[in-house]
Amino acid sequence: MPTLQEEAVRLLDANARRGKDYYYTAPSRRKYPHQWSWDSAFCAIANCRLGRPDLAKAEVLTLLGKMLPSGALPHLIFHDLARISAANRALRFYWPCADRSPLVQPPVVALAARTIWENTGDTHFLRQVLPPLEKHFAWLYETRRFGGSPLVSIFSPWESGLDHKPSFDPLLGKLARLPFGKYIVLYVAEMEMARLRFDPREIEGHRYFNVREVLFNTIYALGLEALGKMSAALGENSKAAIYSARSEEVEKAILIECFDPATGLYFDVDVRSGRQIREPTISSLAPLALGHLPAQMAAGLVRHLANPLEFWLPYPIPSVPRNSRHFRPRSRTYLWRGPTWINTNWLLVEGLKRQGYHEMAEIISRKTRELVEKSGFWEYYDPLTGQGQGQRNFAWSALAAII
Ligand code: GLC
Repeated sequence: MPTLQEEAVRLLDANARRGKDYYYTAPSRRKYPHQWSWDSAFCAIANCRLGRPDLAKAEVLTLLGKMLPSGALPHLIFHDLARISAANRALRFYWPCADRSPLVQPPVVALAARTIWENTGDTHFLRQVLPPLEKHFAWLYETRRFGGSPLVSIFSPWESGLDHKPSFDPLLGKLARLPFGKYIVLYVAEMEMARLRFDPREIEGHRYFNVREVLFNTIYALGLEALGKMSAALGENSKAAIYSARSEEVEKAILIECFDPATGLYFDVDVRSGRQIREPTISSLAPLALGHLPAQMAAGLVRHLANPLEFWLPYPIPSVPRNSRHFRPRSRTYLWRGPTWINTNWLLVEGLKRQGYHEMAEIISRKTRELVEKSGFWEYYDPLTGQGQGQRNFAWSALAAII
């Protein structure tokens, strides 16, 4: 019987795509054959921890190599234009750059770079990746902050990586309530933004979707922290101090702006109204991954996580709690509305360890491995039965082997 690690390596190899000037892991061979930003970063983390840092480095360098001149890191990249499906071509005709998206995703790439650095001590790699990483974080800092908040905004639910998370519903208007309406709304909104050349001031002025998403900002804070550590490793101490101060500032802002004292959970902020969107989802628990979360707040989140009416299901951690009216453990039409995903499990298990909840982290790790052992590497899983759903042989589910 092959071990889980061996199976994960086999999966990552089968999904690997190589060309003259690229290497990446396709999320799935059929539905998602292209390079997605946070998928790639998660796969690089898995490859590195599975003892294959060279593949991890190649994947991170491929991704960073496709950064737009502005510093935006595309959420989706087509390396082989000849292989783009007609649907993708038709739907993306408005992209300013034909082979890459003008949207972004959570900057997990900085965590991947840090993992590679910590596992290899390769300073040459660090010198290669730090400048583009800094450029991307400077772009986020300069173009995605509004109204004096240190938190950054996303301009489309797709930028969260949590596409149809129910907290976005109230912001998407009536069309989104029709069958497949959410998809239509997202494409239409993207086209409108393209018309405005994705200019943040225009988007703010036209009052488009503008949200301080909790998971995105948690990863942004962790990314700044990683930039601080990596700059310090190169002896760039003043830079290191700036990044770690920024990271702490973002952490504090999450604790102030996104915290809801009534529930003890964290919620996204709609920048247009200035209000929290009080809809519990997996993002509500994301601050568990932060470095400076006060013990009392961590304990509050752990209570929600351990509650069988909310997140403590047979196969945790569901993307929406069971007692939410949006809980759909088997929905295939809309993503992130109930099923358990392995990338968020990995992030929250790291967080639980960081906050000192080792036993709970170990239970979730074990159950995550069980999911894969039971039904294979699926895109997401029914949190009640553990049944795999969506795309099979889904690459970032390889994280189950290193969780
Ligand atoms: C889905 C997921 C998103 C992921 C993409 C490619 O859209 O919601 O997070 O990046 O698929 O796997």
